[in-house]
Amino acid sequence: MKIIIGGALGHMGRELAALAAETGVTVACGVDVAWQGQASDIPMTREYDELNTEADVLVDFSRADGLPRLLEYAQKAHMPLVLCTTGYTDADQALISRAAQTLPILQSANMSLGIAVLRQLAAEAARALGSEYDVEIIEKHHRRKLDSPSGTALMLFEAVKQERGADTAAVFGRHGRDNRRTQTEIGLHAVRGGTVTGEHEVGFYGNGEELLLTHRAESRTLFAQGALRAAKYLAGKPAGRYAMQDVVAEVFK
Ligand SMILES: NC(=O)c1ccc[n+]([C@@H]2O[C@H](COP(=O)([O-])OP(=O)(O)OC[C@H]3O[C@@H](n4cnc5c(N)ncnc54)[C@H](O)[C@@H]3O)[C@@H](O)[C@H]2O)c1
Repeated sequence: MKIIIGGALGHMGRELAALAAETGVTVACGVDVAWQGQASDIPMTREYDELNTEADVLVDFSRADGLPRLLEYAQKAHMPLVLCTTGYTDADQALISRAAQTLPILQSANMSLGIAVLRQLAAEAARALGSEYDVEIIEKHHRRKLDSPSGTALMLFEAVKQERGADTAAVFGRHGRDNRRTQTEIGLHAVRGGTVTGEHEVGFYGNGEELLLTHRAESRTLFAQGALRAAKYLAGKPAGRYAMQDVVAEVFK
């Protein structure tokens, strides 16, 4: 398999290039706005529209504000996309859905297989425990992370919301509030500091018991592994929107 890496000079881009080299995946090219001609282990360009190489999939770990140019390139080149970047707005999501009418696009705020399973478990727990249990989601990340709450925390919120009903509302922190929590709210809380790779906890708080479902990422390698697995899954698939749930379903079938 041949891939292009978006954000190739970043922490995740480098991780992905290293893992690709170890596992026999060819990196046809890397793209990064920070590239200024410096020596690199892989061929590089600065912009997507300067890309002139064949590949099976483009895997992107860059910045959400680069999405329009990335989609423009992918549509012209008919390039399947694995979008791992976080911080996409609702408008970005609409652009992705539109592009997925003609391209296979797998997007996930968290490429880890463990998180995909946590999402399923959280939905199942929400279904089994019902609305009498209060749900709170806490996430922790390193001090460099730009967006909060994490895209993964929002994904977990959506999974629980689907089970608990459309009136379920996210409450981001509780600064300035002086009313009791309601049964329809789910608190989302972001901790930022140090070098924490990523931690997500979905807590179900009942009368006299707590059920805490926690995932800890120990290193960034797992995201690169998941991204490569997703790229292999996506290569050759028809146009449409895919998620890590689809990859997990294939791995565990
Ligand atoms: N989905 C996941 O599992 C997962 C895991 C880790 C990180 N991420 C996300 O991946 C993204 C990158 O994370 P990171 O830690 O590598 O960040 P980073 O800041 O180390 O790297 C980002 C790289 O993207 C480059 N870049 C910025 N805008 C660009 C553009 N328009 N075109 C091309 N390159 C561009 C930057 O120059 C930089 O080298 C973030 O959004 C992060 O939240 C997702």
